[in-house]
Amino acid sequence: MPVDFKNSETLKNLMRAFAGESQARNRYTFAASTCKQQKLHVVEAIFQFTANQEKEHAEIFYHHMKELSGNTVQIDGGYPVDITNDVVQLLRYAQHNEYEEHDPVYKTFGDVAKEEGFPKVAASFHKIAEIEQTHGNRFGVIADLLSNNQLFVSDVSCGWMCLNCGYIFEGTQAPKACPVCDHDQGFFIRLEMAPYGGSILQKR
Ligand SMILES: [Fe+2]
Ligand SMILES: [Fe+2]
Repeated sequence: MPVDFKNSETLKNLMRAFAGESQARNRYTFAASTCKQQKLHVVEAIFQFTANQEKEHAEIFYHHMKELSGNTVQIDGGYPVDITNDVVQLLRYAQHNEYEEHDPVYKTFGDVAKEEGFPKVAASFHKIAEIEQTHGNRFGVIADLLSNNQLFVSDVSCGWMCLNCGYIFEGTQAPKACPVCDHDQGFFIRLEMAPYGGSILQKR
């Protein structure tokens, strides 16, 4: 049944989501700093990449509240405290939160928005729910590699790209230091996971 936006649950859900995305962005930025201190630059890059996407999600939800400009929206909500120097644990926390956003949080918010007669808001919740699943999957893959000591080592020979200078090395482990730019091993990413091309770059 259509309801007035001002009195809708959807408005509250948009503010909850805006708060959640804003906090996720900050948490991932803090996590990126922890990774940098531990020279895990590839993990730092992934947290930073994801943080920027959470900012975009925040902006999408925020702009759906435009007609309430000048007003304050009261909400209640629960948000995580995920503080540790253990990078695997930071990745697991992030994975958990992403999956929770994916389902049930944004799926439910999307369904409520649809019921209340706000199809555009519903579409944002449902689409962003799908993105959060891929965020969760990515954090999970990196957590698995790191906890198995496979982030810079592979069972089979493969390509590794230096995220600093772009050099591609072939072997069962990333070089201790990049032979081109001398940045340390922490900058190397498996070529299949490298941005803007990955293994397609070697097939041409
Ligand atoms: Fe998000
Ligand atoms: Fe996310």
